[in-house]
Amino acid sequence: MAIRDILKMGDPRLLRLAKPVEEFDTEALHALVRDMQETMHAALGVGIAAPQIGVDLQVVIFGTGQPSVRYPQAPIIPKTVLINPVLQPLSDSAEDGWEGCLSVPGMRGLVPRYTHMKYSGFDPKGQYLEREVSGFHARVIQHECDHLLGILYPMRIKDMTQFGFAEVLFPELDPDSDD
Ligand code: NI
Repeated sequence: MAIRDILKMGDPRLLRLAKPVEEFDTEALHALVRDMQETMHAALGVGIAAPQIGVDLQVVIFGTGQPSVRYPQAPIIPKTVLINPVLQPLSDSAEDGWEGCLSVPGMRGLVPRYTHMKYSGFDPKGQYLEREVSGFHARVIQHECDHLLGILYPMRIKDMTQFGFAEVLFPELDPDSDD
């Protein structure tokens, strides 16, 4: 297990279309998920995608089952590993919300996302998983799955006046949190 370096915006590896996982329940896949969990926890993130540590596969993890240090007001999301995800909006309803990203440290931006989503995929053992979610949970899954399409949240911002440094936009936030 290891805490891995998180790639930052500007690295072309963040812009690739990630490949589907073809073999489940392998030692390599379990090791990747463990590294992603350690890296996300060390960075106090609420989610991370494999491309953020330079791995070109459709694997995302999110949720800690506990209140987030970086988003203390946010609802608790169960600890989830999602492989080869498929997303489907359940309505046209969308809302703006502030996002940050471990690959865009120190910044926050206001991003429109679908409010209600259905998502499905597989866990590391190959078990099928399907959920219908809304609000913050729906936002997080859209953000993480965007990483698999080579999309970073600044590319989704409609009004660039609503993009800036977290310490300026939200001075009450913990300054030790590096993103
Ligand atoms: Ni991100």
